[in-house]
Amino acid sequence: MTAPARVVLITGAARRIGAQIARTLHAAGWSLALHAHHSSDALNTLGFALEQARPGSILALQADLSDPASAEELVHDTLAHFGRLDALVNNASNFFPTPLGQISAAAFDSLMAVNARAPLLLSQAAAPALQRQHGAIVNLTDLHATTPKREHAAYCAAKAALAMITQALALELAPQVRVNAVAPGAILWPEEGKPEAARLALMQRTPLARLGTVEEVAEAVRWLIEDASYLTGQTLGLDGGRPLT
Ligand SMILES: NC(=O)c1ccc[n+]([C@@H]2O[C@H](COP(=O)([O-])OP(=O)(O)OC[C@H]3O[C@@H](n4cnc5c(N)ncnc54)[C@H](OP(=O)(O)O)[C@@H]3O)[C@@H](O)[C@H]2O)c1
Repeated sequence: MTAPARVVLITGAARRIGAQIARTLHAAGWSLALHAHHSSDALNTLGFALEQARPGSILALQADLSDPASAEELVHDTLAHFGRLDALVNNASNFFPTPLGQISAAAFDSLMAVNARAPLLLSQAAAPALQRQHGAIVNLTDLHATTPKREHAAYCAAKAALAMITQALALELAPQVRVNAVAPGAILWPEEGKPEAARLALMQRTPLARLGTVEEVAEAVRWLIEDASYLTGQTLGLDGGRPLT
């Protein structure tokens, strides 16, 4: 008899990096609770394709992570459907500039709520189930959690909070649950685009002279969950060496 598939809850999984994390973990045999907020069509398309490939392996969930009640609901719905939870990937994020002089409390609170509070509340809600399975949490932080980005003080502060949450929970949830992070540099540009000159300048500042790929991020997440058995409280900088310059 084959063992039941392990279950991972991935936030912001409909598109971009989150969708690739979903495809990579599904290919590795995992069942997926896939969360989206607005991208329900993309989530359904991805979920349908993966469900066709392996029936019974997908649960699609919708929630606004700026609502603090959503964390308990997502974990509850995942456990009600699959009966177990082995890993949590906090990938969802909001990202917008907050130039000094124009920073509102609402903008600060929104960036903190999605990038830091939601991962903390999700981890708290998932902790008992993850402890039963000796599971893992992976948080997607950012190169800019440790290196400031102009006009993005609130976003950088929120990702820095998530980096500390990674370490604090690694301590609190050990020895049963490992908690680590991936801090990407430039992987995918925001969808509103970026001037070509700025892209070229950024690649010139990157020792490996290119952007990272969604596959590289997803593989780092998979490695932290499946293989990094003596690693906790760590952040993998997936940034082509930008902090070296
Ligand atoms: N892209 C990069 O180059 C890069 C660089 C550094 C760090 N990262 C980090 O890597 C992760 C993935 O990056 P990405 O560019 O793929 O992310 P993204 O496209 O900016 O966001 C991922 C998802 O987060 C969800 N989200 C946003 N606000 C939400 C809310 N209030 N409630 C629930 N979900 C919400 C959105 O879901 P819906 O579409 O369903 O609304 C979105 O698809 C993020 O944590 C990001 O900060 C990325």
